[in-house]
Amino acid sequence: MYLGTPNTASATRVMLLGAGELGKEVIIALQRLGVEVTAVDRYDGAPGHQVAHHTQCIDMTNGNVLSRLIDSEKPHLVVPEIEAIATETLMQLEKEGLCTVIPTARAANLTMNREGIRRLAAETLKLPTSPYAFADSFEALKKAVDGGIGYPCVVKPVMSSSGKGQSKVDGPDDLKAAWDYAKESGRVNKGRVIVEGFIDFDYEITQLTVRALGADGAPHTHFCEPIGHVQVKGDYVESWQPQPMGKLALDKARAIAKAVTDDLGGLGLYGVECFVKGDDVWFSEVSPRPHDTGMVTMVTQRQNEFELHARAILGLPVDTTLRNPGASAVIYGGVEAKGIRFEGVDKALQVPGTEIRLFGKPRAYERRRMGVALAEGADIEEARQRAKEAAGRVKPLA
Ligand SMILES: Nc1ncnc2c1ncn2[C@@H]1O[C@H](COP(=O)(O)OP(=O)(O)OP(=O)(O)O)[C@@H](O)[C@H]1O
Ligand SMILES: [Mg+2]
Repeated sequence: MYLGTPNTASATRVMLLGAGELGKEVIIALQRLGVEVTAVDRYDGAPGHQVAHHTQCIDMTNGNVLSRLIDSEKPHLVVPEIEAIATETLMQLEKEGLCTVIPTARAANLTMNREGIRRLAAETLKLPTSPYAFADSFEALKKAVDGGIGYPCVVKPVMSSSGKGQSKVDGPDDLKAAWDYAKESGRVNKGRVIVEGFIDFDYEITQLTVRALGADGAPHTHFCEPIGHVQVKGDYVESWQPQPMGKLALDKARAIAKAVTDDLGGLGLYGVECFVKGDDVWFSEVSPRPHDTGMVTMVTQRQNEFELHARAILGLPVDTTLRNPGASAVIYGGVEAKGIRFEGVDKALQVPGTEIRLFGKPRAYERRRMGVALAEGADIEEARQRAKEAAGRVKPLA
């Protein structure tokens, strides 16, 4: 194993597919190891573009365009950072030995569609999940709900993220609106939805799980401390680590994470989302890449989730040790404008133990995630309080 020198013939070259705030941090971690990085996104000036050696703007859902780019650059590793990618193309390229996809092309493909990963988890791996059904029409949706899923339930497009097109339905009167909303918001394959029985959980977690090579040259599984989080309309607003859990529930969550990540394979960090109620744990979904709720690890772990991902994919050892409790709170755009200003960063950083990340997104809108406040604390209560206070002091202005 060796690492090269960027911009020379020996360079270790990595292509990030997606250059948002999570990709930006992965790139920074790679840059620190002297890796040459190409950041790809659909628009110019994306956060990751601002810290990479090379930038590309393409439609990554277009298989031909994607395969041409990979063929011309021939990166050693292709690292998907978003879901909306022509993953069929990646599978084909990987099969032909033309690229190595992180963690694997199959993992990227199965997780971009809720149907693929849900059927794998529930039907193949027999893991506990919410009851669910898929539907291609309103009639089929209604039949599935009346036939067993019941109310309340959650309707989601099979391809969407960050809660887009997703709604909780409390009774029959709301079902049509949920269908219409899912249909108009789905990324592709418009009109196919998953409906899930609503799980009345006590709390939900992200179990960050790393597959990294050991000294024996074989992949080993490493777990971070569980991350608790709050979601509003399917989008994360606050997270903290460690989420206190009973031993039984934690063991179950880790067994679920191990089963899913063993099956998906490859090297890298996964974010396994679970719902917990008492000692019961349900698998919800998994990201085959760093997770937004895991931004908290930038102030809690010896190696944050981006460094863990960078190390693991390069074949380097990892350390998932928690350093101290901490929390994160999202800073939203609040306004619809280009090139906004952030007032009050000074005030925010007067809150003890805090850090701020501003992602540098060229355009803001109301609910766009523009930054995050991070805070250490003696315990998660103190850290959460600090992170929320700091985030609230940052005022985005048009
Ligand atoms: N069956 C369910 N029962 C209860 N709550 C649910 C259910 N499904 C989703 N939720 C809530 O909605 C949130 C978002 O759901 P999910 O993770 O499936 O959507 P997403 O669009 O993939 O979100 P993201 O991309 O941000 O992870 C969950 O974290 C949870 O809070
Ligand atoms: Mg999720």
